[in-house]
Amino acid sequence: MSYYESALRKAQALCQKGHARILAVESSCDETAIAIVEDGRRVLANEIASQVDTHALYGGVVPEIASRMHVEALDPLLDRALDKSGLTLKDIDAVAVTFGPGLVGALLTGVSWGKALAYAMGAPLIGVNHIEGHVSANFVAHPELEPPFVCLVASGGHSHIVRVDRYGEYTMIGKTVDDAAGEAFDKVARVLNIPYPGGPLLDKMSEEADENAYKFPRAHTPGKYDFSFSGLKTAVINQAHTLRQKGEEIRSADWAASFRKAVVDALVDKTMLACRDTGAKTVALAGGVASNRKLRREIQRRGGEAGLRVFMPPASLCTDNAVMIASAAFYRLMKGEIAELTLNAQPSVRLIEN
Ligand code: KG4
Ligand code: ZN
Repeated sequence: MSYYESALRKAQALCQKGHARILAVESSCDETAIAIVEDGRRVLANEIASQVDTHALYGGVVPEIASRMHVEALDPLLDRALDKSGLTLKDIDAVAVTFGPGLVGALLTGVSWGKALAYAMGAPLIGVNHIEGHVSANFVAHPELEPPFVCLVASGGHSHIVRVDRYGEYTMIGKTVDDAAGEAFDKVARVLNIPYPGGPLLDKMSEEADENAYKFPRAHTPGKYDFSFSGLKTAVINQAHTLRQKGEEIRSADWAASFRKAVVDALVDKTMLACRDTGAKTVALAGGVASNRKLRREIQRRGGEAGLRVFMPPASLCTDNAVMIASAAFYRLMKGEIAELTLNAQPSVRLIEN
């Protein structure tokens, strides 16, 4: 029997049992992560090796360095995940990997490593979309959460409003027509001389500042539920340059806070509109930007006012990790969806192909 035939049989048996312990690997950008999660919700190990300090030297992610660092990090992370969970590879039912979207070289390290591991173990392999992973972080954080719900996914590369109809089934409601929210945070932060990655630090310095100090434009988008951050980002950066040229001082914290307010208002306004128009009862946040303090407060407040149940992962599960990949993989596996060893990295794959 071929590897795939035997993996398929094992997957079918796991579907019937409704249980699986999944080891997942995430390497789409600058975080190498390995996690072990039971039944999509119970975390047995969550190991992350961050490369942020290295990339900070260059002001952003250097893809070739990211790939090399993933290769070095994967084996030690596996040892640590097994050590901490007290498990051996014999206790693992399936292997999951992020296959896209992300940096192609970075993705390939995890995909190749995951394929080799699955093959050596004779275990089913599951390919996971990184965005679906972000959404699924909510399942780990909130055992009571089940579809359907509306989810705002805001990360360094993506800003989407999706409806999670059923596990693994999505309807795209809106998305950014240009920059992602995280990308805008990082670029504005750079102008304020905030080191990479700028989003978290910009958020932190905004907390004690006056967010009404500066007025920035709000974008108009063709689609009712779409975002546009490029005009805002350019306006904010240009205004900063103009003020500096005039020799006027920029109060960085107030500047940061005013920009943060513009982004968060847009994210929350559109998400609330999408919830209202689709009759949603539940709303969730996901992605790195979901760890933004103001975004978390605003969605709580406005979601609560609208009578919605509001969910968001803890900040540690908003940014890249492998727990979310293992959770998404569980629901794919339960539908019998496993990958063949031909699985390839797909750097531009979408959440919904259409
Ligand atoms: O989801 P993520 O870890 O990686 C991608 O899939 O892109 O998101 C990283 C992005 C970065 O742009 C980072 O600046 C942003 O999320 N981010 C934040 C915050 N924490 C992370 N942006 C605003 N406020 C934060 N607290
Ligand atoms: Zn991510």
